[in-house]
Amino acid sequence: MTRFITLETAALEPEERYKLVIGAVVPRPVAWITSVNEQGLVNAAPFSSYNYVCHAPPMLAINIGLREGELKDTARNIMANGEFVVNVATESMLEPMHASGADYPPEVSEPAELGLQLLPGQFVRVPRLAASPVQMECRLERAIALGSGFSTLYIGEVVAFHVDEALYDQGRIDSVRMRPVARLGGPLYAGLGTIWNRPILRTLPGSN
Ligand SMILES: Cc1cc2nc3c(=O)[nH]c(=O)nc-3n(C[C@H](O)[C@H](O)[C@H](O)COP(=O)(O)O)c2cc1C
Repeated sequence: MTRFITLETAALEPEERYKLVIGAVVPRPVAWITSVNEQGLVNAAPFSSYNYVCHAPPMLAINIGLREGELKDTARNIMANGEFVVNVATESMLEPMHASGADYPPEVSEPAELGLQLLPGQFVRVPRLAASPVQMECRLERAIALGSGFSTLYIGEVVAFHVDEALYDQGRIDSVRMRPVARLGGPLYAGLGTIWNRPILRTLPGSN
């Protein structure tokens, strides 16, 4: 007989709720976000409460929490100038991506500190991370405060995709060869596991 431990959310402390949600919603893709502050300092940090939420036009959503009651640098920069870049994090960049999640003070540029090469944005004033094989230039569409106000969902419209030509084939990205990393609960990351190939059973968006 299957046994379940039932936990009513209302009876849990915030940290307990957090641990459950990040253990249940897995694997999560990692948005390695670059942004710039008003002085032009480039910031980079990873966020895994992230996904695409619209395809026409393409939109990405990232949930950024507060840190000691204050906006994180990424959130402050996005609110200040409405622009950011989502760089896909891959296996070969796991270490610098993880390191960029440390609490660097706002006046420290993570790409400079970690020796990450930058490429200029072409549609936004935010640079891209050269080591990432897929970079998406985004303009803030809207920011939505959620729940108790600790979390804000930043929705960005993708205004340009930059795809490594080795991964690009007739409008598609070879996401298997891309070797993305995903976040699990706790301190764990994962790579791609078994890949299954099944025919697509629905009409693709935009093809009718
Ligand atoms: C893999 C990974 C995923 C993370 N996901 C999130 C997230 O979804 N939301 C969030 O607020 N912080 C997340 N963090 C923590 C931020 O990266 C961290 O607070 C970082 O210092 C923020 O940097 P910033 O102040 O330069 O924006 C994550 C950290 C790691 C390592």
